[in-house]
Order: sequence, then structure tokens, then C-alpha cells
Amino acid sequence: MKNIRFPKNFLWGTATASYQIEGAWNEDGKGESIWDMVSHKPGIIRNGDTGDIACDHYHRYKEDIQIMKQLNVNAYRFSISWPRIFPSGRGEINEKGVAFYDNLINELLKNEIEPVVTLYHWDLPLALHKIGSWENRDVIEAYVEYTKFMFDHYGDRVKKWITFNEPEVFTVMFYGAGLFTGKSNIKGGYIASTNVNVAHAKAVDAYRNSKNSDGRIGITLNLSHVYPQSNSTLDAKAAKFIDGIYNRWYLDPIFRAEYPKDILDYLKERYNFPPISENDLKLLKANPIDFLGVNNYSCTRTAAKKPEDLSSISKLINRRRIKGHEYSQYGWEVSPEGFYDLLVRIDKDYNHPPIYITENGMAGKDDIIENGIVQDEDRLNYLKQYFENAHRAIKDGVDLKGYFIWSLLDNFEWVAGYSIRFGLIRVNYETQERLWKKSAQWYRDVIAENGFETL
Ligand code: FCB
Repeated sequence: MKNIRFPKNFLWGTATASYQIEGAWNEDGKGESIWDMVSHKPGIIRNGDTGDIACDHYHRYKEDIQIMKQLNVNAYRFSISWPRIFPSGRGEINEKGVAFYDNLINELLKNEIEPVVTLYHWDLPLALHKIGSWENRDVIEAYVEYTKFMFDHYGDRVKKWITFNEPEVFTVMFYGAGLFTGKSNIKGGYIASTNVNVAHAKAVDAYRNSKNSDGRIGITLNLSHVYPQSNSTLDAKAAKFIDGIYNRWYLDPIFRAEYPKDILDYLKERYNFPPISENDLKLLKANPIDFLGVNNYSCTRTAAKKPEDLSSISKLINRRRIKGHEYSQYGWEVSPEGFYDLLVRIDKDYNHPPIYITENGMAGKDDIIENGIVQDEDRLNYLKQYFENAHRAIKDGVDLKGYFIWSLLDNFEWVAGYSIRFGLIRVNYETQERLWKKSAQWYRDVIAENGFETL
């Protein structure tokens, strides 16, 4: 029997994002975001789902906070809908939107739950999309204005800030897929990713200079440990390249104020990518983070058949399922050892930063309901294995300070709509009824004990 206990003051939380749960898409003066735009277009989101109502959290936040209280969580990571505050992206402020987050934050604090705020979880004001989105540097300035307002207005109560959620996904991936423009634009996606880093650094600077600068600020990256198929030189090269594309391209600018040379060379050759300006690098250097948020669900496996493959990302990613390994409803491999290896590697390569797991969780089947409880054994087992490995990483020196489960509620899973369920709490989208899952009951008990017993 192993007795797993987490450090004192460990943060245990759940995570959500504005567009995925709030609904009220056009209420109380909210402006349109790119997700409102894209979900209202036919043929993009599975089953034609939209976030118009989602979990109706905008009206039910008090009930949802009571669920969190029953879960025993001491922190809640949520994001702010930028167009709820600035309907046109900049300029005029929407007081009713500001009041919604005031109420949410105050209600959390009243219930002894620490608000951890993500400033940008993908719902860009549509007005800023229309001027070129993250490829246009004017958007950086609009973002910095928005963050300044946030720090000044909420910073007396919010002491943990996350500038961006998963830059890779909303730049390189979405631009590559042409999600908001209908046209693939990989080079633009990479340019956007470098602009986002500038926006991040400027927001960190704005925070340090705000009147409420006594909290902590960081960024959340989606990271995935890369495993080569064999120990051949070719496979090692493939793994290093994919690690550069998925991980180092985002980690190196944040921690080292530089971009990985191998990936810069690749982008230059393939897309005629321009050099990074010295000023941008200086900005990054002058504005280090206080903590890193890590979103991790799975690992990445790579394989190269011939040297020519080394320049083709899609050829190198090995999606073949491995016999005996488990996969989620989303098709993602369950890889607790990938989670451990990732944490230890970040710790070693990036000088032992404080880390929060800002997202981890599992898309489950959720098809058996007994006595009013969803029997999600798969999710419970997943969490147990990931928690064990988080604990092992802490024992091995990683400065892990907290863990946020994705997600509090089943919610709008982007292009997959409502077809994929990640919640600890089930949402019936017809009635908005919330139903506990077994994993939620287990998580509640883990938090109460600050750990658990396992074999
Ligand atoms: C992450 C997103 C989050 C959620 C999970 C499943 O990439 O940050 O909003 O959709 O995946």
C-alpha cells in the first residue's frame, strides 16, 4: 500500500474557459468573439453545436461555485471573455460584463476558493480578427490595454494570472487549419505565435507596473513528451524535431528569451520565415514569469522511415495505436509516464520553475449512470495514475504547486461541440441539470486528505 500525500498548501482546482461554459453569447452588451462567428457558420462544429447557451454558467455561476465548494477545491481557473469587457476589442468598456466577473470573483472568495484567471482562452473579439488577428501587431497593443484594465480592476482580489492559454493551438494549429479564415496559413500561424510572445511579455511588464503587482503571473503552454519509436539516429532526430515544433518553440522564448535554432532554420527554409527582432527578444528577457502552467493530456510518438521524412511533421507523428495501451474518447493515449517525463524534463532544462498543472483530465465514455452518479471508472483511473506521477515528480524535485482538472463541467469542446465530455460533473444540456460523476466524488476525497492510498 502506498500512501501518497501532496505538499502543504497544494492548490487543488478545476479549470474552465469562458466560451466553453458561459453561454449568454450576446447578453448584457457582450461583443462577438471569433468563436461566436465560427460556431454560427454551418459545417464547422460537430452537430452544428454552438456556445450560445453552453452550460449557462453566466446565470448559474453561484450554483456552480457551490459544486466546487462540495468538491473541496481551493482554487478555480477560469478565463475572461475579452469581448464581454471590451465589446469591440478596445475602447469602450461594458460595465455589465465587468460586473459579471466581479460577482464571480467575489462569490469565489466568499467560498474560500482562489480565483486563478486566464486572460485569453481563445475568444478574440471579432473586431480584432477583422483587422488581422494575431498577425497584426495592433492586436498586441489592444491586448495590453485589456490586461492593464484587468490588473487594475480585479488585481486587488486576483493574485494569480495567466496571460495566454496554449499559444500553439490558437496560432499554429488554428491558422494551419484555416479555422477562422477558411484558408490554411501556417507561416501566419508562426508569426502570430511570436507576436503572442511579445503580447505576453508586455502584459507581464504591465502587471509588474500595476498598482496590484503583489501576485504572480505566468503562461499556460500545452506540452507533450515526445517518444521516438526506436533508438536509431533517425528516430532520435525525428523526436528532437517534433519536440522543437511542439515544445521548445514555446518554452525557449519564455524561459531563455530565444527561439530554438533548428526550428527557426526549418521555418526559414520552408516558409521564408523572417528573423526575430532583437527588441522582441529583449522584451522577453526583461519579463520573466513567476510560474509555468502546464496543460498535458497525453504524449507524442514519432517515427521516421527515411531521412526525407525529417522535414514533414505529419509523416513523423506516429498515430498508430499501441496494443495494450489505453486511449480516451478523443483518441488520446493515456500516458502517465509521459506526464512524469515531461515534468522532470521541464524542471531540468528550464531551471526548476514553479509549475501548476493548469489542465489535465480525460474525455470519457460516461455512458453508465447508476443511482444518479455517472460511473466514469476510466476517468477515475486516469486521474489516479496521473496524480501518482505528479507526486513522483514532486518527490524527484519538481516544484509542482497545484493541479487543475479539466474540467469542472462537461462543456463545449470546440470543434467537437458537446459530443466530447471532460467534466467531473455531467451536464444535461436539455435541462442544465448537473450530475456528479464517480471521479468527482473521488477527487473530493483526495482533496480532503491531500492525497490517497493506492496499491
Ligand atoms: C485544451 C484546451 C481546453 C480543452 C481541453 C480538452 O487544449 O485548453 O479548452 O478544450 O484541451
